[in-house]
Amino acid sequence: MEHPEFLFDASPKLEGETTWQAPSNIALVKYWGKHGVQLPKNPSVSFTLSTACTTTKVAFQPKATEDKVSFELLFEGQAAPAFHPKLAAFFERITPYVPFLKQHQLHITTSNSFPHSSGIASSASAMAALALNIMSIEQMAHPELSETAMLRKASFLARLGSGSAARSITGPMVVWGEHDAYPGSSSLFGVPFEAVHPVFQSYQDTILLVDKGQKKVSSTLGHNLMHQHPYATQRFQKADDHMGALESILREGEVDAFCTLVEAEALALHAMMLTSHPSFILMRPNTLAIIEAVLEFRRTTKIPLCYTLDAGANVHLLYPESEKDSVHQFITHSLQAFCHEGEYIHDAVGTGAKKM
Ligand code: DP6
Repeated sequence: MEHPEFLFDASPKLEGETTWQAPSNIALVKYWGKHGVQLPKNPSVSFTLSTACTTTKVAFQPKATEDKVSFELLFEGQAAPAFHPKLAAFFERITPYVPFLKQHQLHITTSNSFPHSSGIASSASAMAALALNIMSIEQMAHPELSETAMLRKASFLARLGSGSAARSITGPMVVWGEHDAYPGSSSLFGVPFEAVHPVFQSYQDTILLVDKGQKKVSSTLGHNLMHQHPYATQRFQKADDHMGALESILREGEVDAFCTLVEAEALALHAMMLTSHPSFILMRPNTLAIIEAVLEFRRTTKIPLCYTLDAGANVHLLYPESEKDSVHQFITHSLQAFCHEGEYIHDAVGTGAKKM
């Protein structure tokens, strides 16, 4: 079993409730490819967001049988049986580390700050909020558990639900996966990257909703396609190199170099999907129209506005807070027309999850 120091032999019979709000995150160097039990093939780093988040309440009470975790789930006020298999698999994976869960009945109530159909990945914030609630229960039995240890184990548990969720616990930036440039970095949990230049600590992220439909490739399938991928070795090496270069860019506040690197990463992620078997074209015509408009805007105004993409058609626009007015004007005049029903979400770098 990995990481025995995360095991607790607590057998508390507790009753109560706990609520956490956990943010979404946007990767700058992307996690795409995994091995073992949710271990990344390359390190990744992300901005923690502040507006896009999941709020989850867990009420818990002792139960008689202790064979497996029992839970009920309300999502946005409704029963959500579609999420049960993923949650059941998550609980099965984490119970060796949090065995007390089996002795409790859990009532989970969860909601997102963004529309479910927006194409914004909610698994990161959802798994992070749930993991933090579980750790709050553990903390009731083990008040001696330090804040740092608690957050670290929350990231460890969240990772077992969804890899990118390991990066949704703290802020303003989180590294997940080992890399020499980031002392203390680990493939088992995310660690905060503290040495962030002030310009990046208040960076803005406007999410342009190009396609609000369901994702066409599940992340599990996408990660699996990296096993047989013809460019896998080069991709993992490149991600490693990008992590190294990004460390000084982030520390020194080099916004132009940031734009170049972040866009190269976004395109590399899509290049992997374009060249896997089967392949996926997840950009839409409006994604490309936005990218071209952003490049032209940067060329003519010299404002360091850049884009990044997840495994979908939506575009994340990243820019310094000082350029907010010009960029917002550009969005309403030139980009909003490319968004599904004109929708976009203004977000910004945040400080991490909050206990409610
Ligand atoms: C493209 O974390 O959703 O957003 O571990 O299978 O749940 P699972 O995958 P997931 O993958 C995220 C992929 C990405 C890039 C990133 O966030 O680093």
